[in-house]
Amino acid sequence: MIEVTDMHAYYGKSHILQGVTMNVQEGEIVALLGRNGVGRSTTCKAIMGEVIPHGSVKFKGQEIAGKKAYEVANLGIGYVPENRDIFPGLTTRQNLTLGLKPGQKDGSGRWSMESMFEMFENLKRRADVEASVLSGGEQQMLTMCRTLMGDPEFVMIDEPTEGLSPQMVQKVAEVLKEIAKRGISTLLVEQKLAIAMDIADRVYVMGHGHVVFEGTPAELKDREDVRKEWLEV
Ligand SMILES: Nc1ncnc2c1ncn2[C@@H]1O[C@H](COP(=O)(O)OP(=O)(O)OP(=O)(O)O)[C@@H](O)[C@H]1O
Ligand SMILES: [Mg+2]
Repeated sequence: MIEVTDMHAYYGKSHILQGVTMNVQEGEIVALLGRNGVGRSTTCKAIMGEVIPHGSVKFKGQEIAGKKAYEVANLGIGYVPENRDIFPGLTTRQNLTLGLKPGQKDGSGRWSMESMFEMFENLKRRADVEASVLSGGEQQMLTMCRTLMGDPEFVMIDEPTEGLSPQMVQKVAEVLKEIAKRGISTLLVEQKLAIAMDIADRVYVMGHGHVVFEGTPAELKDREDVRKEWLEV
């Protein structure tokens, strides 16, 4: 689905990504773990074209490095950034509508607004109120749902459980499983092992701009050295 090979990225003169190689296959949930500042969000932004990627980024066999962010989105890649960037003055419903691609009608993709409201009682109850009054967890849900409205085939979700209550974390885990069930490939960015170990098919650990471990959650469990050096504080 997505194949990243020797990807580099820069902010000004800072060489942030130093040869990231990774892939996500069809229907897989892959976790990208690592401490603060190692370049997990930059990896997503570079795949998305929000930051210029040097190296190769292939989506369904097609080279997309060099494409603009909106072109990448239109090809079927979604990105849920770590800051919950809802439009606070708009209603929940209006926020969801903004997730549709140009020319896309509600209900033509895998997710309709109605089906989202069925999955998320909270959002349904607040469908017609300003998004600014939603709780942090509900705003996280809304951000995720808005990206799904655009019917991506591959979605990157950046720290969706950050700052959420244990119940909301559970809810997010359920959504991620539902996404996988519908055949969508997911790159889940997290700092802690938490839900990643339960729901991911494979795990990458990043340290200082490149991948330092690749394996299954079970394999990572056995690698205390990797966890000590690159994950635990
Ligand atoms: N817009 C920017 N301009 C300059 N440097 C940046 C910018 N964004 C991030 N960086 C730097 O790039 C490095 C990687 O940042 P990135 O956001 O990818 O990390 P991360 O792994 O997502 O961690 P976290 O989300 O905890 O910050 C960090 O050292 C960060 O300070
Ligand atoms: Mg980040």
